[in-house]
Amino acid sequence: MTDQPSVTPPRPAAAARHVVTLRLMVNGTAHDVAVEERETLLETLRMGLHLTGAKPGCEMGQCGACTVLLDGEAVYSCLLLAVECEGRAITTIEGLARDGELDPIQRAFAAHDALQCGFCTPGQILAMKALLARNPHPSDDEIERGMAGNLCRCGAYAKILAAGRALAASR
Ligand code: FES
Ligand code: FES
Repeated sequence: MTDQPSVTPPRPAAAARHVVTLRLMVNGTAHDVAVEERETLLETLRMGLHLTGAKPGCEMGQCGACTVLLDGEAVYSCLLLAVECEGRAITTIEGLARDGELDPIQRAFAAHDALQCGFCTPGQILAMKALLARNPHPSDDEIERGMAGNLCRCGAYAKILAAGRALAASR
């Protein structure tokens, strides 16, 4: 008897995948979104809600480009499932400005020219927001350690530190 080749069953059609409807609280607004259970928060924000400020960089929890705030804490949205975030307060870079006024952290980044290509910047700003919320007057060392999870391929670290230092002094 000859060996039969193994047969890989067809992937289930999209309609058969497990889709659930979630209510996500994003930037103070409730959104009912249909997501696959395996979908990351980053994917849901970008593709489901069209909030493209959080960036897909490594998508492995190593660069911080996808950083958002979850109940005020900086998190990597590429490492969270959207279904884990129901009922939590999610803040993206699109939610920082108020009544057309940039957040002070956004203003400090602009004033100190703390970016080059801008790809990492939404994540850097949200990481800085979480850092200053838990420590309003960080030292240089504390800023560097607090921002260590957010990489910048353009090497804008000195200017990001300058923005953080100015924010710490202004509070
Ligand atoms: S894209 Fe999430 S940590 Fe890099
Ligand atoms: S400004 Fe380009 S990656 Fe940070």
